[in-house]
Amino acid sequence: MEKPIVTLGRGTARSAWNYCGQSLAAGFVDGYLSILDSSDHSSSSFTSSSKFKYAIHLYLVWFIKFPTLSYSKLCKSGLTLWRLKKILTMEKQAASKVCCVTGGSGYLGSWLVKKLLEKGYTVHATLRNLDDKSKVGFLESLPGADTNLVLFQAYIYNPHEFKHAIQGCEFVFHVATPKQTADTQSSQKIIEGAISGVRSIAESCLQSPAVKRLIYTASVLGASPLTKDGFNVEFSVKESSWTHVDASFASTHGLQHMRTYTVSKTLAEKEALRYNGEANANGGKLQVVSLACGLIGGETLLSHAPSSVAAMFSQLTGNLSTFMGLEYLEKLLGSIPMVHIDDVCEAHVFCMEKPSMAGRFICAAANPTIAQIAAHFRENYPQHQIPQQLMGEEKEGIAWDKSKLVKMGFVYKYDMENILNDSVKCGRRLGAVVSIDQ
Ligand SMILES: NC(=O)c1ccc[n+]([C@@H]2O[C@H](COP(=O)([O-])OP(=O)(O)OC[C@H]3O[C@@H](n4cnc5c(N)ncnc54)[C@H](OP(=O)(O)O)[C@@H]3O)[C@@H](O)[C@H]2O)c1
Repeated sequence: MEKPIVTLGRGTARSAWNYCGQSLAAGFVDGYLSILDSSDHSSSSFTSSSKFKYAIHLYLVWFIKFPTLSYSKLCKSGLTLWRLKKILTMEKQAASKVCCVTGGSGYLGSWLVKKLLEKGYTVHATLRNLDDKSKVGFLESLPGADTNLVLFQAYIYNPHEFKHAIQGCEFVFHVATPKQTADTQSSQKIIEGAISGVRSIAESCLQSPAVKRLIYTASVLGASPLTKDGFNVEFSVKESSWTHVDASFASTHGLQHMRTYTVSKTLAEKEALRYNGEANANGGKLQVVSLACGLIGGETLLSHAPSSVAAMFSQLTGNLSTFMGLEYLEKLLGSIPMVHIDDVCEAHVFCMEKPSMAGRFICAAANPTIAQIAAHFRENYPQHQIPQQLMGEEKEGIAWDKSKLVKMGFVYKYDMENILNDSVKCGRRLGAVVSIDQ
């Protein structure tokens, strides 16, 4: 049961509503500008608040005493009321579709937020920590962020926190995922956190009448062709392939954090798909799409090379621990399914813009073996010496059938060469790949 957190004085202009029909007010709570909501229209007690940073403008539709439609702009200095003068431009913005991106400051999340803003969508992005200036700052500097981006704080281990960001959104991209670092939580906690995060986000989607579709960013790690005892069973991996989470694949290979990540992504994806077709608050059915994405490479908006990009060029840098991630993929998946950051984000938008779409889709443009990647590097970057133990084994890779998404109409723009070359370019720009002139 939520407790009232603020009671407004009599006569306060607060009779706005959100997309769910709840009564809204705006003000400061705990030093944050906040939207307060209350499901009881006649009450002046507000039970819930969404914290966000300013530098973004939030537009609410207000019906004040007289029946003129007015807008309120919430900004750093507080509340401003406008009338018809500004309404036309604001109406245009208010009419843009609203979507939520969890994990908006990560590698994929930030690229997706940028793309959605460029396409004119209003984006509710979640971050773990709104006080992290570096993450907040670069998102707020994206073109269109000043008017169309709203940041929310939400932590996977407090999954109810996502509901504020989800309210009013038509589409929800669940991108965030907990990851294990050397000093963090147990495997069990990571796996349970990922699953309960999906569950809670899906429940919020069901309860928010505006939500039509949940798009879950899954991983090809959830679609291994290996049997429990480690033998290949399929010549071509497709959407019906699921990783056996109790298989011995990782213990034999020794990468415990990768095993945890694999299990968490597999089970979280299954959990997300379980909500497909569930009845939602507007009397319709929630559509759930899961995109099982390959290793992502290419450029980044972040100030460091993301781990997947570093894995792409690990043979050039000779970084053994990063290369072991690549080996793990080949062992589990039979080859290295890969996709360019721009394509993977386009695929997310594609899944949103389709009038109707649900189910599981593999999202990978190419699937070379480690040896084929090494051959590309040897031919195109001869100035780099690839250590012999990073050259990979000459063998036939397992094919990945990407036709399901393509049959829906999606077109990949980047092939293996583009993905690898853009990853190297990114690594050089960030100083992670030292340029050696020929
Ligand atoms: N990169 C790949 O090759 C690849 C391939 C297939 C699938 N994926 C999937 O794509 C998604 C994004 O991956 P990425 O490569 O962009 O990774 P990333 O840069 O590490 O981003 C992960 C995101 O998750 C958020 N996050 C982590 N722990 C969290 C927690 N406890 N509570 C709330 N948020 C949390 C992070 O938030 P903060 O920024 O606030 O810390 C960050 O935004 C993930 O679901 C991943 O499994 C990635």
